[in-house]
Amino acid sequence: MSAQPLRIGIHDISFATAHQVLDLSEIAEHSGVDVGKFYVGIGQSEMSMPAADEDIVTMGAEAAARILDRHGAEGIRTLLFATESGIDQSKSAGVFVHGLLGMGENCRVVELKQACYSATAALQFALGVVARDPREKVLVIASDVARYALDSSGEPTQGAAAVAFLVTVDPGLVEIEPVTGLHTDDIHDFWRPNHLSTALVDGKYSLAAYLRSLEGAWNEYQSRGGVPFEAIDRFCYHQPFTKMAVKAHDRLNTIVGSPLDRDQRRAQIEASLHINRRTGNSYTASIYAGLLSLLNDDGTGDGAADGADLAGRRIGFFSYGSGSVSEFFTGVVQPGYRALLRADEDAAVLDDRVSIDYARYRALHESVDEVRGEDILTAAETSGPFRFAGITDQMRQYQRRG
Ligand code: COA
Repeated sequence: MSAQPLRIGIHDISFATAHQVLDLSEIAEHSGVDVGKFYVGIGQSEMSMPAADEDIVTMGAEAAARILDRHGAEGIRTLLFATESGIDQSKSAGVFVHGLLGMGENCRVVELKQACYSATAALQFALGVVARDPREKVLVIASDVARYALDSSGEPTQGAAAVAFLVTVDPGLVEIEPVTGLHTDDIHDFWRPNHLSTALVDGKYSLAAYLRSLEGAWNEYQSRGGVPFEAIDRFCYHQPFTKMAVKAHDRLNTIVGSPLDRDQRRAQIEASLHINRRTGNSYTASIYAGLLSLLNDDGTGDGAADGADLAGRRIGFFSYGSGSVSEFFTGVVQPGYRALLRADEDAAVLDDRVSIDYARYRALHESVDEVRGEDILTAAETSGPFRFAGITDQMRQYQRRG
């Protein structure tokens, strides 16, 4: 008798973002653009804006701390940190988080990079580690600060957030199914040379490249025995801005010749858009913020969609990272998943941010490029559990509060 295949997937998921927020009406007013272009045209209402004492490490640590508070660090022997906005060319941001969280020394920690895709690479690698030894637990952290030049067309699609998730056998939230479809293409649709703190993007080209990759990844997913479109109940896309997910899902419906009307198509993705609409782009984290948003939707609260119980339902994921690498895969939501969520806490993470005005946003944006390696002490601007305290002798210093 052959052994039952292992069920492996996402056991718990948590989210954090920067503690300041800019309403996109502030950028609209400054640039003389109708705010409808942002609220409706690109589907974004706000962007999280890190203070001087916040970065990918503080957000990543805050998201991961919620997972460790519940499950402890015992048994986590791998920490994968996915980011586009790394803070050191050599040392993994994950090692800073490992230290801040007081995790055990018998742990491998590494950072992964491929624009917005690398958290999905981390998920796939984590599944492999657990498949090889089911005693293993892998902590994945996706954390990014999306930055474009001031007054550029990408500016309203900035943002910041982190998502942490724990990959184990017999997962509580979503079992990840084995079939995937991949697509890689060596292009320059979005990239960030080492000397720049802001990304370069050919916006319209990146949209077209994203849609072309979706078709390539979907076709390979089908050719490798993936389930048909009709067997997938909800879809969760990488969201550089939420309208991109709408465009992508419309395109997938066209590719498969689906008879669904506009409202039916929208119902398959709506619940996944809520968090990203308010954080702005979070690069690697955005698709997993989309998953959390989808799972948290119970038909109540801000941005609620249909509130359907998703237990036993299949989610289709499309992860895209410019440059470009993409992957289509699926997961099945587990019975009892709702009892494991922290929807009220996640809502508070968004609601409790401090609003800033355009002048403050602009000063913060410009201040990033003023840091050139000299010693600095950052002001304690935010009240989060972790802070970036400054740089001493070229070394970044972090603190845990409380
Ligand atoms: N009310 C409602 N909608 C409006 C509007 C208004 N007053 N004014 C414009 N719009 C709509 C446009 O019709 C367009 O919708 P469509 O795409 O469905 O046709 C949308 O708003 C955007 O307008 P557009 O003129 O295309 O904006 P833009 O030239 O400033 O560029 C992006 C928009 C998204 C391309 C740009 O912000 C960008 O490059 N962002 C980064 C992209 C990225 O992250 N790529 C990485 C890869 S995934």
